[in-house]
Order: sequence, then structure tokens, then C-alpha cells
Amino acid sequence: MQSNQQVPQITVLDAGGQYCHLIARKVRDLGVYAEVRPSETPSTELAGRRGLIISGGPSSVYDPGSPTVDPAIFAAGQAVLGICYGQQLMAYLLGGTVTKGVKGEFGLATLEVEAPDALLAGLSSREQIWMSHRDTVTAAPAGFDVLARTSTCAVAAIGDSQRRLYGVQFHPEVIHTLRGREVLSNFLFQVCGCQRDWDPTYRGAQIEDEIRQVVGNNHVFFFVSGGVDSTVAFTLCLRALGSDRVRGVYVDTGLMREGETDFVRRTFDSLGHGVVRIEDARERFLAALEGVRDPEQKRHIIGEEFISVQEDIIETLHLLDGHWLLGQGTIYPDTIESGGTEKAATIKTHHNRVAGVQRLMEAGRIVEPLHSLYKDEVRQVGRQLGLPAELLDRHPFPGPGLAIRCLCTEEEAAPQPAEGGYVLPIRSVGVQGDCRSYAKVLALDKFPAGDADLHGEATELINRVAGINRVVARVDSRVHVGGMRTHTGALNLTRLDSLRRADAIVRRVCHDSGFERKVWQFPVVMIPLGTPDAPDSIVLRPIDSVDGMTAQSVLMDESLLRPLAAEILAVPGISAVFYDLTHKPPGTIEWE
Ligand code: XMP
Repeated sequence: MQSNQQVPQITVLDAGGQYCHLIARKVRDLGVYAEVRPSETPSTELAGRRGLIISGGPSSVYDPGSPTVDPAIFAAGQAVLGICYGQQLMAYLLGGTVTKGVKGEFGLATLEVEAPDALLAGLSSREQIWMSHRDTVTAAPAGFDVLARTSTCAVAAIGDSQRRLYGVQFHPEVIHTLRGREVLSNFLFQVCGCQRDWDPTYRGAQIEDEIRQVVGNNHVFFFVSGGVDSTVAFTLCLRALGSDRVRGVYVDTGLMREGETDFVRRTFDSLGHGVVRIEDARERFLAALEGVRDPEQKRHIIGEEFISVQEDIIETLHLLDGHWLLGQGTIYPDTIESGGTEKAATIKTHHNRVAGVQRLMEAGRIVEPLHSLYKDEVRQVGRQLGLPAELLDRHPFPGPGLAIRCLCTEEEAAPQPAEGGYVLPIRSVGVQGDCRSYAKVLALDKFPAGDADLHGEATELINRVAGINRVVARVDSRVHVGGMRTHTGALNLTRLDSLRRADAIVRRVCHDSGFERKVWQFPVVMIPLGTPDAPDSIVLRPIDSVDGMTAQSVLMDESLLRPLAAEILAVPGISAVFYDLTHKPPGTIEWE
């Protein structure tokens, strides 16, 4: 087993990309230890590596202060692969041309391989790849060949086999680039000449050691949610420290799904922990959120309210006598999408990254055993720990709960006709070119039957129509979408209860039909669009993903969807049911 003290064979230079850590992880999955360092790390500090990978990032090489690399790395003898922004930066620093893009290209594309070279060896002449970029390289630097192109990007891969410098505009690290693993493997083993030195299945025991190191003689106080991450993290703490030194609390925020509190009670009783207490905080969370409509504000308030509940519990239980650390089930995507790495843009602030938590982190009073893992890795650890499949296979549910699935708006307006549907006066969060977007939703007027390429159409519309980042299709409604309006009702119990009802219907239907196993997560979202009698609508957002960082909208069989929509329409207050056709990017999984 490789220890982190040895010089790693591969260093990933972080230029602020959402997928930087994922690149390192994919390299480790191939059996080669890789570390992540800031992009500007001087070449002299990178001596001894066999290869460097420059990550993507949200900037343009023309932005003042955009991330750069020490140009000496290109002449230091080790191989270099630039991915997305990394390719643009390499081309720019070595005398090629980078052209600024306005709209960019987000989503699936077809790579046409012209010269496989070592990097693309074994690929066929046309391969599915995944793109997320605005700028492009339009002329390769001297000494480089263009290895591949797409219909819209003439320089999709470049290589200089003499100097062993390569660049790709697409993302080999995400699963939607179907043969991305082979591209990375070619780089590691053909180009860099790496040796296997890392066992990717190794986990639990190492994490327990880390917990003991971080916690020392202190105690840990844990918020559990009944979800996979917090349960696995909590269980690891119990194993590492013993039940005398670990306390868990489940906070019923009133933003949970139907039956959730009972599930948690059953789970922890059956796991025999007996150290979890249940705190009813429904009233105080709703009061804190009264009149709040902005998504980030909701997230901040919920995060801070968790801290204040925690402080109250610590005081009530006299936990201050000892030395207590706060334990959290934070996983890696939570950190990166909250802007928690040096250069990554903030997409959303996760509830476990708000100011109160940051203060505790600065004081060294936080333990996050899963901080560098992705969801699928957490499930793997959970299996190693022997946790029940019923728990490990649960779909992820976000800490801020239904609050971020119950949308609010400041605007009372009607949908505007556009592109075979309507632009809804409702905004949702997206991630485009590694940056956060907050833009309107385009609703196609009906859910087209047959084998129309709905997702292709949605991707194309988002790339083409200015001001939108999401496309939904109307499945069923009481009235025509043009006859609906948005309302300015905030988060209240009536709306939350309707959403909870709709969510419970979806969960039951998906469980009974087995559809839940076909998707990674299935958010049910309420939007403030309807009629005076039925002021809201429901959006179904089933997606498939491996790690939550990227996701694909998944279609549902009409024989399942039609009766489901009809049942949801019968919930009081609901005017329409829509289906979200947006992949991530450009949309995020949750709408806020
Ligand atoms: P997005 O919406 O950013 O979501 O594409 C990616 C994954 O993260 C979950 N999510 C959260 N989980 N606290 C959490 O514990 C949060 O504040 C939070 N926000 C999003 C989301 O459900 C999806 O699985």
C-alpha cells in the first residue's frame, strides 16, 4: 500500500475545476496514487513525478488573475496532460491560440479521432464524450498535432509525442465520456510509464485511524439524518472511539419527508446504537425561514439553525464539561460545490459549510471522516462495515431537505410563449462551465410520446436559448400552462405538506414498480406556478449518477408516468406535473 509520504507518480494541478478531485480519484481507481496540488505549484516542487494533469476550471485564460501553471513544467521532462481549461492553458502558454466563447458547449458530443497517438490508442474513430466549456483552442502550439475534433470544436485533443505533452477539451474523468477511463489509463501507463502502487479497495481502517488522530482525547457530537453519509460517518466514529465518547442527535426540522423520523428511530434502534436522541425542532426551523425566498439565504439559515440547535443541546446535556467536537457526514462533493477548495466556484452552500461551521473548523472542532470520499465510495465503506442494504441503497437526500425543493419567487408573472412551450418566470440553480448559474426554466408544452430525443433537444435548447439553464416538459395539468401564473407565497406548512404528499406518492410508486433501482436519486420539486385554486406545480426530477457531480435525466415509462401524474394532480393545491429533462450540467440535481 502506497503511503502519502512517498513522492506520488501523478500530481493533479488544481485550476479550480469541479472535477479536479474526481480526476485524482479516477487515477487512483486505475491503481496509481495521485495527489492534488494548487496549479501554481513551482516546477521544482514537482520533481520526481512521472506525470502531471492540469485540471479544468471556471476561468478563461484571458481573465485577469486566472489560474496558471509554472511554464517550466512543460520542459521538466515529465509528461503533462491538460484537461479542458488545462488544455487551453497549455496551448496558450506554449504559443497556440485560444478563442473566447460566448455560449459554450455543455453535454454529450461525438469525438472524431483523427490521430490516436498514444493517448487515444484503442479508441474507435467516433466516441461519445462529454464537454463543458466556453473557450476553445483554435490553433495548436508548434510541435503539436491535432488528435481529434468534434462537429463544433476543431481542436478537441492535441499531442506532442516528442515532449509527451497532451491536451483534451473533453472530460475523460466523467462517466459520460464512455471510454474516458481508457484515455486516462493510456496517459498513465503508455505515456507516463506509471507502475501500479495503490489498492483502490482499501478504506475503513485507515479512516478510523484518522478519526482517532483528529479527535485525540475529546468526544464527538454528531448530527445524524438517517442518510447514508451521516450513518456511515457516525458508525465509523463509534467504532474508532467507542460509544461512551460519541453522541448522536437527529433533528426533525419539519423539512423532512413523510415517515422519515420513524425510519430514523427504527434504524438506529435496530443498529443497536442507543446513543441517538431525536429532537423536535420543527417550529423553530419554520419560524427562521419565514418569508425567506432566496435559495442561498435558505441554505445559510438552515445551516445556522442546525448550529444553534446543537448549541442548545450541548448546553442542555451539559456536554460542555468535556471537550466536544462536531462530527459531520460531509463528503467531497459537498465541499467542492460549496466553493470549499481554493479556486472552485460556489455552486451552492451546503448546510454543513455555513459560517458557524466554518468557525468550528477554524477552531479545529470538526471531524469529517468522509471528507475526501464520493457517495459510491461511502456506500462501499458502509458495506465493509456491514450496514444493512436497506440503508445503504437509500437515495441521497439533502440536509436542507424539502426547503430547497419548495421554490419561491418574488415575481408574480405569466409564462412567456417560446420555442414550442413557455419560459417560466421561475429560476433554478445550474452549473455551467464550472460556474454557478441562476436562470429561468423552459417548459415544453407537452410530454412528447414516441422515441423523440428529448434529452438531446433539451441540451440543444439550453445551449441555444439565452437566459435559461433548464428544460422541463408538461406531463399533465388542470389548465393550459399559458393560463397559469407564479405567486409569491413563501415557505409555509401548507405548501410543504403538499410537497411531502407528492413526494410520498412518488416514492411509493417508484418502490412498488422497482423504478427506484433504475435511478440514483429522484427529487420531487414544487414550483410556485398555477391558478388561484391550485397555486403550485410539481416537477419530477429522476436522475442517474455515480457521484452526484454529474447526472443524467432519466426517462420514465409512460405506463408508469401517466397514472403517477394523475395521482399527484389530485393532491390539493397542485395545478400541473412537469418532468425535468436537464442533465447536470447544465442543471444541478436539486433546483436550489
Ligand atoms: P446538486 O443539486 O448540487 O446536488 O447537483 C448534488 C447532490 O448533493 C445533494 N445536496 C446536498 N446534500 N446538503 C447535503 O447533504 C446539502 O446542502 C445539499 N445540497 C445538495 C443533492 O441532493 C445531490 O445528491
